[in-house]
Amino acid sequence: MEEFIKKNLIKAKSFHPFFEKALNEMLLAGGKRFRPNLLLSVVKAYNPLMVENAKYAAFALELIHTYSLIHDDLPAMDNASLRRGHPTLHTTYDETTAILVGDALNTYAFEVLSSAPMHNDVKVELIKILSKNAGPSGMVLGQAIDCYFENKKLTIEELKFLHMNKTGKLIAASLEMGAVIVNKTDLARKLYDFGLKLGLLFQIQDDLLDLLDENETGKTTGVDDGKNTFVTLLGEKEARQKADRLAKELEDELESFDENLKNELKKLLDNYLFRHKK
Ligand code: IPE
Ligand code: IPE
Ligand code: MG
Ligand code: MG
Ligand code: MG
Repeated sequence: MEEFIKKNLIKAKSFHPFFEKALNEMLLAGGKRFRPNLLLSVVKAYNPLMVENAKYAAFALELIHTYSLIHDDLPAMDNASLRRGHPTLHTTYDETTAILVGDALNTYAFEVLSSAPMHNDVKVELIKILSKNAGPSGMVLGQAIDCYFENKKLTIEELKFLHMNKTGKLIAASLEMGAVIVNKTDLARKLYDFGLKLGLLFQIQDDLLDLLDENETGKTTGVDDGKNTFVTLLGEKEARQKADRLAKELEDELESFDENLKNELKKLLDNYLFRHKK
């Protein structure tokens, strides 16, 4: 994946002194690449020959995710100065640059996806899944609720809705897109639902990361006090118990997938299901 990203960095040659550098900085800063790897795991399970072509779709997911992080860190949102072990873009450059780089990554995702060497009907389906889950009935909605309800307490049901939208849906979409690429439409729904639960777990684990030092996380921490998170609403202990329960349920659900898929997903999820224990 890293090689693919480096080969397909965003080009914006002009006389702007730093825009092109800023465009690619957060992509090159790394990150776990969890969403691309989820998609590629599904493809690998059913058609390893398609993995190279699937990287266009995997990169599109990473572009959307990275844009969401750049905007998430802005002063108007979480106001964070460290991301992926690097100063955030609005700190290095300015807010204007960070907003526009986010916009650029968002649109470039669809340029990359629509250029993928795949059938047009498959690409339209992928574009639909990605836009639906990243947009106003997915990540963007979640972020709107997350920010609006700062210092206003939500119920646990509402918090779940928030987490499913801001984080769960893009993770679910990653698995569903993998299924569409290998034409396993019968599996798409089941993988999507598995992904929603996985995404909820991922965000609860992320809520727990806010308690750690930023040297350990590579991003600004200790900023969730006014936010609705599993830690702020339930306390650390209950948040951990909730994560444990979800991780165990997901472990069991993995058993219901066929052998190839189970093995591929297990390889990846080994590092994630119980990461809150590490
Ligand atoms: C952080 O996502 C934001 C959430 C949605 C929880 P990641 O933990 O996947 O961040 P990177 O991509 O590894 O930097
Ligand atoms: C962000 O959630 C989710 C996104 C859609 C970017 P957080 O605000 O908890 O993510 P971090 O902790 O800053 O990575
Ligand atoms: Mg946030
Ligand atoms: Mg944040
Ligand atoms: Mg967080």
